[in-house]
Amino acid sequence: MGSINKIICNQEETLLNALKIFDKAPEFGLPAGIVVVVDGEGKVSGTVTEGDVRRGLLSGFSMESPLSQVMNSNPIMFESTFTLKKIAEKIPEELEKRNRKSRRFLGKILIINKDKEPVKVLEYHELWEQKVATHRHLVVVGLGYVGLTMAVVMADAGFQVTGVEVSQERCEMLKNGDSYIHEIGLQELLREHIHKSFKVANTLPDDGDVFIISVGTPVEDSSNGKKKPILRYLDEACTGIGGKLKRGNLVILRSTVPIGTCRNFVKTKLEEASGLVCGVDFNLTFAPERTAEGKALKELRSLPQIIGGYNSDSLEATAAIFRDLTPTIVKMDSLEAAEMAKLINNSFRDYIFAYSNQIAKIAANFNIDVFGVIKAANEGYVRDPLPLPSPGVGGPCLTKDPYIFASVAEMKSVDSSIFIHGRQINESMHNHVFERVNSQLTQLGKNLSNSRILLAGLAFKGNPETGDIRNSSAVKIGLMFLQKGATVTAYDPVADVEEIKEYGFTPVPLSNAFTGVDAVLFLNNHKSFEKIDMFKAVREMNEKPIVFDGWNAFRTEDIVAARASVYLNLSFVKSSLS
Ligand SMILES: NC(=O)c1ccc[n+]([C@@H]2O[C@H](COP(=O)([O-])OP(=O)(O)OC[C@H]3O[C@@H](n4cnc5c(N)ncnc54)[C@H](O)[C@@H]3O)[C@@H](O)[C@H]2O)c1
Repeated sequence: MGSINKIICNQEETLLNALKIFDKAPEFGLPAGIVVVVDGEGKVSGTVTEGDVRRGLLSGFSMESPLSQVMNSNPIMFESTFTLKKIAEKIPEELEKRNRKSRRFLGKILIINKDKEPVKVLEYHELWEQKVATHRHLVVVGLGYVGLTMAVVMADAGFQVTGVEVSQERCEMLKNGDSYIHEIGLQELLREHIHKSFKVANTLPDDGDVFIISVGTPVEDSSNGKKKPILRYLDEACTGIGGKLKRGNLVILRSTVPIGTCRNFVKTKLEEASGLVCGVDFNLTFAPERTAEGKALKELRSLPQIIGGYNSDSLEATAAIFRDLTPTIVKMDSLEAAEMAKLINNSFRDYIFAYSNQIAKIAANFNIDVFGVIKAANEGYVRDPLPLPSPGVGGPCLTKDPYIFASVAEMKSVDSSIFIHGRQINESMHNHVFERVNSQLTQLGKNLSNSRILLAGLAFKGNPETGDIRNSSAVKIGLMFLQKGATVTAYDPVADVEEIKEYGFTPVPLSNAFTGVDAVLFLNNHKSFEKIDMFKAVREMNEKPIVFDGWNAFRTEDIVAARASVYLNLSFVKSSLS
């Protein structure tokens, strides 16, 4: 920071002069938008901010009026002997003393020496820089995939973190150091920090400094037949946080939400419940989670962090928290721009997957192997590579975010069919897979009610691996077989056996998974599948076995040469049965 002298004025100087100083200050490395007013002895008598000048002009003062007319003679000041930690602790008290509701006063903090001479102006966000803010209390509300990984990574970065989770069962597990989420490195990190820098609670603590909201925002069918986002969990979280909010706090929304939710829903709920004013008493940002399940810990420390703030203090304070965690901070112009950035990432991914899936359905009519076609189309062609098709796009995000984005478009009377259509194509892949396998079984003289089906890969994706089977295509496809009377067994290298049972599938270990099976369906791309001895597996299966290779993990010839059998994928079939 440059010499503070450049922003020091005496009381007789004019408002016009202050405006000039506001503009010039950044050139000297000083904060913009503030002058420090001193008396004849050089002691601080007040501060004048842009807001003070604006209000002064509006109430009849002129550009030539002296600063004494508009200055704040009771600014927040601390002696330079105070550490940043001490200042951060004292600020709520100072704000409380002043009890001002209508002014923006969180932004700048004046540092003085023992003779009350100005030394430095500290910006609010500097108190959040990780190096000084690690003693601050971060409260992560909702410990699902997003909240838990975030909380543990923040604890590892040195913050004091309390994770708040309404599920008693989840709380108990975490307190015992057990993660209910399969995520590389999470279990180890949890055990390292639990009961130390990471505490878990069922209710919100009273002394939070930063509240990070990461509750679920699923979708549900609405009366007009469309899907709409459920904001119930967010509502409860905001009301709870509002009851604990203190001046100087920061609230960060991390859940995926429709555009406008931060400003029109979260802010309103927080203000109602707290009686405080956003941007004056507390700050608010939207900082979306964009990590992929399976590599969340790595991506939390490597993906650029998008941040949209209610105001610049909100933005800078949040950036300060994330700065040492991620290499790149992407500052957005508004809360809404950040909300939109999150939604377009996932809606786009779902849409391009739909494109390839529709190609697969066309290729099936020609018995063309779609994987080979897409590989050929992409080979050496540097523009916009096509993604691979799949037995459906599952998981907790891509299956709902396009609907959330579509609901936003519809709210503004913009055609949303592109997103809905992509979703419908991806959802139609479940039936596509079911029909392909069923049709082969029929051709082989088998019927579903006495067929044994093995699902291999229940989690919604295999690579990076996850145990998450929420909205998994494999589950949806498996249920179709179950409903038609087939016996359905399931093997997944990661997913929880109890969860698999809840769907009515019988979990089996890999060692005897293939014995007596009529059709095996490989439904995710778990790396370990490539290591399965398919020669042996096909031979263990029932007569006239079918191998459905949903992710192109195997060579056709390896299957059909092992034994008289059928190799089947999303668009191609080859049989070695006579
Ligand atoms: N799963 C992902 O990989 C991912 C990635 C990016 C963004 N998101 C978004 O992040 C948000 C959270 O996703 P998730 O997959 O972690 O959800 P989740 O359903 O796994 O977890 C939410 C957790 O919040 C808890 N909860 C609900 N209300 C609460 C309250 N008032 N107080 C405390 N706890 C409460 C629930 O019990 C649950 O454990 C969603 O908006 C989602 O769209 C998820």
